Order: sequence, then structure tokens, then C-alpha cells
Amino acid sequence: MIQRILLGVNGSIAAYKAAQLVRLLTGQGLEVRVLMSRGAQAFVTPLTFQALSGQPVASELLDAGQESAMGHIELARWADLILIAPASANSLARLAVGLADDLLGAVCLASRAPLWLAPAMNSAMWQHPASQANLALLQQRGAHLLEPERGELACGEQGDGRMMEPAQILQRLLAAQPDQSKPDPLRPTPLKGQRALVTAGPTQEPLDPVRYLGNRSSGKMGYALAEALRDAGAEVCLISGPVALPGPAGVERILVEQALQMHRAVLDRVQAGGVDLFIACAAVADYRPVRVATEKIKKGSASLHLELQPNPDILAEVAALPAGLRPFCVGFAAETQDLEQQAEAKRQAKRVDLLAANRVGPGLGFGQEDNQLLLLWADGRLELPLLPKRQLAQRLVEQLVKLSAASCQPPAKNSSWPLKAGS
Ligand code: C5P
Repeated sequence: MIQRILLGVNGSIAAYKAAQLVRLLTGQGLEVRVLMSRGAQAFVTPLTFQALSGQPVASELLDAGQESAMGHIELARWADLILIAPASANSLARLAVGLADDLLGAVCLASRAPLWLAPAMNSAMWQHPASQANLALLQQRGAHLLEPERGELACGEQGDGRMMEPAQILQRLLAAQPDQSKPDPLRPTPLKGQRALVTAGPTQEPLDPVRYLGNRSSGKMGYALAEALRDAGAEVCLISGPVALPGPAGVERILVEQALQMHRAVLDRVQAGGVDLFIACAAVADYRPVRVATEKIKKGSASLHLELQPNPDILAEVAALPAGLRPFCVGFAAETQDLEQQAEAKRQAKRVDLLAANRVGPGLGFGQEDNQLLLLWADGRLELPLLPKRQLAQRLVEQLVKLSAASCQPPAKNSSWPLKAGS
């Protein structure tokens, strides 16, 4: 799965289009780092790309400051894909020869990531046999071409050489992404052979046939976690409250509405044995109405009193199971204040192995595309920056892989997996 794109920008008037490209790529939840040639900086400033990508812009190979921030080898390893847009005639020639006397050349040589080229140049330069031969050589080595278009060029001529439009570049990159429902043989799968259970979304506690008590959880974080666990090789079952999200490919999904139904679905699975990992990401209602009216409650009285009773704490119950049945447990804490203290208290009270805490409130947490997490475990903490939930989920799973391997709980495998919903 492509997550991290290194965008190389060369000196061409089309460099301004690269700014829009960064917006489109980050809008897809991709992490983008921009690397500019000196020529590119004559057209657009590094600050533009820094503001759009939210990351420092690299340009110099022999700059001690830039190398210490993220050196050329680190950049080369970081990238899942290198896209050069616009790619100049000069850049095609340099890449074809394999020059490494500037940052882009060095990074391309040092990286095993696929290389995508979106050339932009005057049509005579594009058609010149030298450019065509350079391109043919690069394609032979596996580079992907995003063909330039015909149209009016910056030099005033009509012809081939306009950089492909950013929206079309994005479409081409997305179309080339591997199908997530099929296993990618090159993807590392540290959780292969492990079974994971994830709860996600809100619960709805009925008051009468048409009303319920609910909350603002969108389910996005839990769904992203289910996908990240699947991508890491785990067999995943997602137990979800009512959300507006499609079931992730390759993940079994059980839909529930109420906390008691979620509790039953989780406990049935875990008690059957063989669950290695449990992530409780759902925003489960702490209370439910004592009485559910069989008919719609009518308005009329000046005030209405609802009597509520506590719901079972699913996470705490799973975490209290005896060794052998107890999976590695991850909990969430959404807090509006004193984040770390509240979260640490919750981690200890519920006896979870890893707790992910986030601040919630207006514009934060629930329903948002991005989130920020503080991870706490018995002898460590890690702050994850503001990131799209998909990336955050991957980082959380990376940490979970490390901690669960270290805790080395022998999984109790049982042939009754998977149970069907409601069983
Ligand atoms: O106590 P609090 O609701 O803040 O705890 C949050 C954590 O506990 C989350 O991981 C949530 O999924 C889990 N939880 C649960 N069952 C409940 C309440 C919370 O699994 N009834």
C-alpha cells in the first residue's frame, strides 16, 4: 500500500502545478515530502510546498542541516513511491545516466521505490532523440511514464510537452495501487497467523421505537485500525456499531447497535479462544435506559426523567480474562482535559496493555479525518503527531506489533473461529 510519496519538483513553469498535486495527494491521506531541484526554486518557493505538505522541503545534497533532519538515504528508504512532476529534460538525462551529484539523483539511486515521471518541456526538447532515448532507458528499468499532453506550452508554441494535469496524475497513481483485498507478497506481515478483534463506532441505546441515546463516533479510527491489522497480515473481525462506512475488504464485519449486543459479540469470540489481539476502539455508551418504551414517548409533561443503568465495560472484562484466553488488549481514552493523567488512570484501572489517548472536543477527534494520539504502556509512552487516521492506525499497529511480541502471550488457538454473528 502506497502511503509515503516523495515528490521531486524540477525547474519548469509547470512547477506551480506540483503545488496542486501536493494538495490532492495529501487530501487522499498520503504523506508527501517534497524535494526541489535548484531550478524549481526559481519558479516556486520551498515555503509553498512546506506549507502544503506540512513537512520540511529538501533541496541540497551537501547541506549538513538538511542531511541531519532527514538525509538522502533516509529519504530514499522513507518513500513508498517517487514521483517527479514536473520532470525536466535535464532530469531525464541525469536519471538515465545515474548521476548522484544532486539530492534528487542521489535519492533516486538509493531508493528501491517505484519511480513515476511526469515530464514537462518544450515540444522540440520532448521529441528530441536524446530525450526519447533517455526516457526509453528509464522505462526499460521500470520507471512509469505519465505522458505529457498536447496543448499550448509556456514558450507560446502548440505541441506535446505540457505536464499531465494533477487530477489525472492522482487518478493514475490510485489506479496503480494494489487491490487491498488481495495479499501483496512484498508487504511485511508481522501479524500473519494472528487473530484480531476490533470494536468500532458508537452504540445506540434505545429509548423507544424511534429514539436512542448515542454519540458522535464516526467509526473511522476503528475501521482504519481493522485495515492496518489486515495489512499487517492478521485475520480481522470488526464488530461495529452503526456507522456510514463500508466494510473493509478482507475483514469480517459484524454489525450491532447496542452496547449489550457488542458485549455479547465480543465475549462470544474471545471466550471461544484463539483471539490474539483485541482493540476496543468503539465509543460504547456507559449507560442505557432502564426501561425502553414500547410506544413512542409523547411530549406533554414539563420535564422528562430518564433512569439509566450502567453497561458492562467490554474492554475491562476482556482484559480481566485468565491468561490463555486473554488477548493483548488495546484501549482508547477520549478526554477533554488532563489527557495524560486521565488516560494513565484508565490504563491502570482497565489493566490494558496499550492505551491510545486523544483529546476530543469541537473540531477534535470524533468525525475528523485527522487525529493525534498519545500511546501509553506499562513502561513507555509515544506521542504520534496529527495525521490522517489511516496513517495513525498504521503507526499504532507498528507499536502494537513490538509490544505484543515482547509480551509474548502464548495464543490459545481453537478451531471454532470464525463464529457466525449471533452465535
Ligand atoms: O471508560 P471509557 O469509556 O472512557 O473507556 C474507553 C475505552 O473502553 C475504549 O477503549 C472503549 O472502547 C472501551 N469501552 C468498552 N466498553 C464500555 C465502555 C468503554 O469496551 N462499556
